[in-house]
Amino acid sequence: MDTYETTAKHNLAETCSASISLNDLLTLAPKESLIDFSQKQVYGAIRGTEALRTNIANLYSPVGKISAEDVLVTNGAIQANFLSLYTNVGPGDHVICQYPTYQQLYSVPESFGAEVSLWKSEEGSGWGMDLEKLRGLVKSNTKMIILNNPQNPTGAVLRREELQAIVDIAREHDIMIHSDEVYRPLFHSLDPEQETPPSILEFGYEKVLATGSMSKAFSLAGIRLGWIASPSNEIIEACAATRHFTLISVGQIDDRVATHALSRPCVDNLLQRNVQLARQNLAALDAFVNEFSWAVEWKRPKAGTTAFIKFVNRQGKAIDDVEFCKTLQEKTGVMLVPGSRCFGGDVDFRGYVRMGYVPDNQSMVDGLKELRQFMVDEYEKLPLAH
Ligand SMILES: Cc1ncc(COP(=O)(O)O)c(C=O)c1O
Repeated sequence: MDTYETTAKHNLAETCSASISLNDLLTLAPKESLIDFSQKQVYGAIRGTEALRTNIANLYSPVGKISAEDVLVTNGAIQANFLSLYTNVGPGDHVICQYPTYQQLYSVPESFGAEVSLWKSEEGSGWGMDLEKLRGLVKSNTKMIILNNPQNPTGAVLRREELQAIVDIAREHDIMIHSDEVYRPLFHSLDPEQETPPSILEFGYEKVLATGSMSKAFSLAGIRLGWIASPSNEIIEACAATRHFTLISVGQIDDRVATHALSRPCVDNLLQRNVQLARQNLAALDAFVNEFSWAVEWKRPKAGTTAFIKFVNRQGKAIDDVEFCKTLQEKTGVMLVPGSRCFGGDVDFRGYVRMGYVPDNQSMVDGLKELRQFMVDEYEKLPLAH
């Protein structure tokens, strides 16, 4: 992404809901002096301001169960994840990580000397997770189960019953759960009878932590603001102690902007905007998938901002996803992410690409137009995966 995203004409690799400016934020909910120009730029509140941590805590139900003391503010969820893994995982530990997912979640524990087992989801069952498989992966030294809900890149969700079963397994074996919930609460396409899955913090199990951020569901990646939340004082204090080695405080201006974005009614307006945008753009993507059904296989995402799409030839053989993405960008300026390179260690997910489908609507429409033309002019010249 580093190499290609600055030159992409139609960036459909972006995982943030269409980003907003501070002016846009004020349109969603006005506030006098969002930025206080007279504020001295000292370090500020070390763990994040009480106001911000309270607004973050209020994202979890029932309101009041998680409070400001249960939250640590970080520079994005990437730092929150790193901090949790740095604090809790080391040589001699075994961790189980849901897969496919954001590479940080399994590569960082590995780099700290832990043994990592991948808990693989099955596309055939809508990227569902097999709980028996999870039970089979648990060892006597399993320290942590790492989840990503909603999941990047598939857009699948773990339902309440599945989360409950995972919590039961963790409780039985005294395992900590780390749930990366950075795409929460962008649940835009659950089946009508399907309940919005709770956060992992809402099951009454103490040994859990959730990470989240302003980047994806809240459109403010540029302020680099995320968090760790946990009902366990022990977990929060352990992370707070190691946090001193990785950051002092987040920027005061960022804290202030996030506090406003997560205050009512701003947070509701922002989420409503993004859920609506996700639905509108997903409908456009659906139309593309239907039009090229001979070449495209997918499980329609239920939540988040990303879809994991398989591209095949007329005989159903996977095409080379890396060449596909390179050629597509060269010829059209449309940027997608190759699945085998970015999510499968060049082994799994050949033929898959990840698309971020929640940019502003015009970008989506323009990008899909180019992609359609590419499908007609170039697609059948692409090499197959080997
Ligand atoms: C699953 C997941 N976690 C964490 C991050 C990091 O996000 P940020 O640091 O912007 O909050 C990403 C970004 O793509 C992600 O997909």
